[in-house]
Amino acid sequence: MAEELTLLKNVGRKEQYDSVMPQIEALISYESDLIANLANISAALRQSLGFFWVGFYLNSGKDLVLGPFQGDIACTRIGYDRGVCGASYSQQKTLIVADVEAFPGHIACSSTSKSEIVVPIIKDGKIRLILDVDSDKRDDFSELDQEYLEKLAELIANKL
Ligand code: SME
Repeated sequence: MAEELTLLKNVGRKEQYDSVMPQIEALISYESDLIANLANISAALRQSLGFFWVGFYLNSGKDLVLGPFQGDIACTRIGYDRGVCGASYSQQKTLIVADVEAFPGHIACSSTSKSEIVVPIIKDGKIRLILDVDSDKRDDFSELDQEYLEKLAELIANKL
């Protein structure tokens, strides 16, 4: 299959998600390698929605370790009790942070990042991965992002 993304121009975020999600589903349906799929998912989300940073942290059993991502270099390991990723891990739920500077303990990988959504990817009751999406705009994430990114998390969990 051709690894090519059809991108829509001048449409809203919902329309972009509606267009890219089935494409991501198709893209990963032919491949069983997790790292390859996470790499393409990061690229597809960033290309289509224009986020500042999109990537995954993998649960090592001891901490969260940087996995495939698109964007600036980022911190390699995050403790379960650190940052937004650690908070999402501990609370086992999606966290939306409208202003990262106001979040106690936020780990600033880049000063360009202004808001963030973190979605845990859960299989058999255990968090296996964390999806982290950063924006260079304050208050850039809403329930819409949560809805689509949680669907994506489920898709990924079903392939683990
Ligand atoms: N800001 C995250 C760290 C990861 S970077 O944003 C890529 C956090 O506070 O957990």
